[in-house]
Amino acid sequence: MRCGDAFALDLTLGAQRKTKFDSVISAIPLLHLPPEKRRELVLDLLERVPAGRPVVQITYGLLSPVVALPAGYEVRHLAFMMRKHSTRAALDVCEEAGAE
Ligand SMILES: C[S@@+](CC[C@H](N)C(=O)[O-])C[C@H]1O[C@@H](n2cnc3c(N)ncnc32)[C@H](O)[C@@H]1O
Repeated sequence: MRCGDAFALDLTLGAQRKTKFDSVISAIPLLHLPPEKRRELVLDLLERVPAGRPVVQITYGLLSPVVALPAGYEVRHLAFMMRKHSTRAALDVCEEAGAE
């Protein structure tokens, strides 16, 4: 496990900064950030997974915190959770993504 700033992942990941991950699940709060910063994060995360693999964002918002970038990525709603415990909700979303 690595702890650090998700907006500085090269620094956070150190020697593993070139690693390709299977997918990304994020619960980083985005709604308070400007749209361009949200988009930068998504684009950075997508660089770290193979083409076609997902970046899943868990959000308290009813809508996705990022809008689709037609030339770069699509945004799809995966699941709606009413549970209070966020770790359990994260697992549910992960299973939902893997079920496709
Ligand atoms: C809504 S909580 C989610 C907690 C946990 N992932 C869960 O699902 O139970 C948001 C978490 O994002 C972390 N966070 C906020 N900004 C971050 C950043 N720039 N880089 C890494 N983590 C960040 C906070 O420390 C907090 O633990």
